[in-house]
Amino acid sequence: MPPSGYSSHDLNADNNTLRSTTDLSELSEHSNTVTGASQIASHIVSSSQTSSLESPMPSSASSDRAVSPATASTPASVLGKVYLVGSGPGDPGLMTLKGKTLLECADVVVYDALVSPPILDMINPHAEKINVGKRRGRHSLVQEDTTRLLIRKAQTHAIVVRLKGGDPFVFGRGGEEMEDLVVAGVSVEVIPGITSGIAAPAYAGIPLTHRKHASSVTFVTGHESAGKYRPEVDWEAIARSSETIVVYMGVHNLPHITECLTQAGLAPTTPIALVRWGTRPDQQELIGTLETIVQQVENAEFSAPAIAIVGSVVSLHDTLSACRPAIFDWRN
Ligand SMILES: C[S@@+](CC[C@H](N)C(=O)[O-])C[C@H]1O[C@@H](n2cnc3c(N)ncnc32)[C@H](O)[C@@H]1O
Repeated sequence: MPPSGYSSHDLNADNNTLRSTTDLSELSEHSNTVTGASQIASHIVSSSQTSSLESPMPSSASSDRAVSPATASTPASVLGKVYLVGSGPGDPGLMTLKGKTLLECADVVVYDALVSPPILDMINPHAEKINVGKRRGRHSLVQEDTTRLLIRKAQTHAIVVRLKGGDPFVFGRGGEEMEDLVVAGVSVEVIPGITSGIAAPAYAGIPLTHRKHASSVTFVTGHESAGKYRPEVDWEAIARSSETIVVYMGVHNLPHITECLTQAGLAPTTPIALVRWGTRPDQQELIGTLETIVQQVENAEFSAPAIAIVGSVVSLHDTLSACRPAIFDWRN
């Protein structure tokens, strides 16, 4: 039973179609009966509005950006609300209570590739589950279509969860999706998750700050998408101003990144760690220096998804990795 007091579901705010106060625990009770939240919704939405993945969606992936305000079509009426939920990095114990409650009440869950199996197991068994997962080079739905899908699902379902790995607003395109939903007139709320850039180092015994090592930390993408509006990452500025650097999506571009950082003045002996599948049973770590890590990656055939941590905090791994958190092995 979800905690009461979550009166966050604004079904009535947009269209005055449901009672004046609807909370998640109420919807969840219905979900446990034959009806479910979708059925509540169906009482007030005509079947002609029902949409699903079976209906072909226009696929114009001309830009990397999600549906732009200009192209988003405003739905005639919007029943539900989209919750952008962060699933954390994989360990189900790191999922927030708020996120878990929403999964248990959801009518539709639209999820990414990096969401771990035990978190998918938390989803209401009656919910429609849609995988729009993206892994490098393998896009199952382009961003624009994902946004359109969310809009259409919100037209006909009360609780639509957009489930993303880590935190939706940290290199997860959550900001773009939220903007487009707002422009389309869809109610939307974010439920933060624990980002992999914090959890993976922690599970490897690497604190990002430490009074003897680092009083600043920068989170940066190692993979800038084509078509992005902002200019390239300023590695020189980052090397100058930050004592710990946490790089997301950096494995592929590691030769370029290590070169930029050494050219920017970091010593070739600066420690670097890579943590792959952090917090999951198959977590792997590689510890080296800026001058050795590329060769180590090649030798170990180390691949994405991984977080890279650069800076002297990495040297604490020797001592602290002995007391790292136990990892729940869901494979057994
Ligand atoms: C598109 S970004 C999404 C980041 C996510 N929103 C977050 O907050 O963790 C994908 C990248 O996150 C990192 N990542 C996500 N989950 C990870 C994990 N369990 N272990 C290590 N890195 C992970 C990898 O760098 C991966 O390439």
